Amino acid sequence: MFSLPLRDNALLRPLETWHAEEFAANLDRAREHIRPWVGQAFVTDSLDGARATLLRYAERQAADGARLYGIWLDGTLVGGVMFVSLDAASGNCEIGCWLEPAAEGHGLITAACGVLLDWAFGTRGLHRAAWHCRADNARSAAVAGRLGMTLEGTERESWPYDGVRHDTQIWSVLAHERPAARRP
Ligand SMILES: CC(C)(COP(=O)(O)OP(=O)(O)OC[C@H]1O[C@@H](n2cnc3c(N)ncnc32)[C@H](O)[C@@H]1OP(=O)(O)O)[C@@H](O)C(=O)NCCC(=O)NCCS
Repeated sequence: MFSLPLRDNALLRPLETWHAEEFAANLDRAREHIRPWVGQAFVTDSLDGARATLLRYAERQAADGARLYGIWLDGTLVGGVMFVSLDAASGNCEIGCWLEPAAEGHGLITAACGVLLDWAFGTRGLHRAAWHCRADNARSAAVAGRLGMTLEGTERESWPYDGVRHDTQIWSVLAHERPAARRP
């Protein structure tokens, strides 16, 4: 019902429990593409698993914490963005994202994350938005850069995946670093 146009044929909407079938289908198209780069709890392989993720986010949103938003391109759920965490008391949040391969390269994630940043800083008055990615995830780091984030440092060997421990980059942007013209 509620949606925000990112482009003519792309919409950003809350991704809710009733979208479980669409989300499971999106994960079927995205799973192997995103598996190395996102939290493993997110990469489920069944409808029940997809529904459990949506329910987990819904419960956290009810407590004013994490939130999940889907991107629909030409009517198909192709990925999304999320507040991995949001803590109004401390003014901190962390943003994350995923896309199925066919939707990459159109600026959808940069646009959607911009909406989240504008809401976090402009509406909620948060102070800091962070971005964590595997240090060898060039596409994710490029999004952080396009969002005006600063690379703060690297957590060494903090990201275990498939028997190897990878470094994690920590990026962030502070409220006063986000151009005022882009805030509501
Ligand atoms: C990370 C990920 C979401 C980035 O997707 P993306 O499509 O590259 O990111 P954006 O939506 O910002 O699009 C940027 C691309 O669109 C292009 N683009 C086209 N129009 C654009 C516009 N108006 N604005 C910005 N970029 C635009 C850019 O040139 C860029 O393309 P390029 O990388 O080929 O040069 C995607 O690669 C992915 O899902 N990876 C696997 C999961 C993952 O890593 N998640 C993040 C975990 S930290």
